[in-house]
Amino acid sequence: MDIDDDQARDDLGRLSAQMMAIVARSAAVHDGREPGTDDMVARGDCAAEKFLLRWRGEADPDHVKAIDTYWICTAEHGMNASTFTARVTASTGADCGAALSSAVGALSGPLHGGAPARVLPMLDEVARTGDPDAYVRQILSEHGKIMGFGHRVYRAEDPRSRILKRTAKELGSPRYEVAEALEEAALAALREYKPDYVIATNVEFYSAVVLDVAQVPPDLTPAMFACARVAGWSAHILEEKRTGRLVRPSARYIGPETQSLSELGGAPVPS
Ligand SMILES: CC(C)(COP(=O)(O)OP(=O)(O)OC[C@H]1O[C@@H](n2cnc3c(N)ncnc32)[C@H](O)[C@@H]1OP(=O)(O)O)[C@@H](O)C(=O)NCCC(=O)NCCS
Repeated sequence: MDIDDDQARDDLGRLSAQMMAIVARSAAVHDGREPGTDDMVARGDCAAEKFLLRWRGEADPDHVKAIDTYWICTAEHGMNASTFTARVTASTGADCGAALSSAVGALSGPLHGGAPARVLPMLDEVARTGDPDAYVRQILSEHGKIMGFGHRVYRAEDPRSRILKRTAKELGSPRYEVAEALEEAALAALREYKPDYVIATNVEFYSAVVLDVAQVPPDLTPAMFACARVAGWSAHILEEKRTGRLVRPSARYIGPETQSLSELGGAPVPS
């Protein structure tokens, strides 16, 4: 509200680039190395290559391909939870940084962008036991969630999953076979578990496998997702700001009818 469209566009462009730089620098510090210099980064041809040069000072072409494919697949996806959150914040007239920060918070949850961090431990467990079928049935018997499966909108395989699966195979992921075995077992068990509700592979399952090819540790995967989705969030924030209208849903109260204080166990009200 306090900034015009051009200013918002500039701010979002700068913040999108900064998001990648901040994640790359944090990852370098975490690894105990100096982040790549501006000269090194300038040699990169695409965002993924520049990101790796900033993080590691070098960019293996297979790692570039893994991250580039992942970022293209996840840059935008309609009115998902984090995008909606960004739009709600933008609708209040808050600045672009505030709208992006609230989106990051929503993205971090395990039912959204936090899912891939939980996929690799599942693959490790299946690799250890060698029994994907028993593993998924155990989760379902405890009413747990198999991460990387199911979607609020898709009632079929997420099309992005197929692209990421192919990329994981082409890049020779050492986890490809175990991932495929777990996927097969999960799909079969989920079909039996919910015969009337299709729960298929979503984007997060093979995202985890592809990012693993680029040696991205699981706890960095939500930040990698944020680096991609900042493009989609930015487009939505600009659109929302243009409407200039506050998002304000209403809620229907469905709790108990009016009760007196004595019914609630409180002190009697003096008359
Ligand atoms: C993404 C997700 C929240 C979408 O859910 P949804 O389609 O709105 O469906 P609900 O969460 O209402 O689930 C409907 C039923 O299917 C079950 N279900 C959905 N996804 C499941 C999964 N991955 N594993 C096990 N059960 C699942 C739910 O437990 C629920 O069972 P219930 O009716 O007995 O309680 C859900 O599929 C999920 O939690 N997936 C795992 C996390 C994940 O991969 N998130 C990334 C999404 S891109």
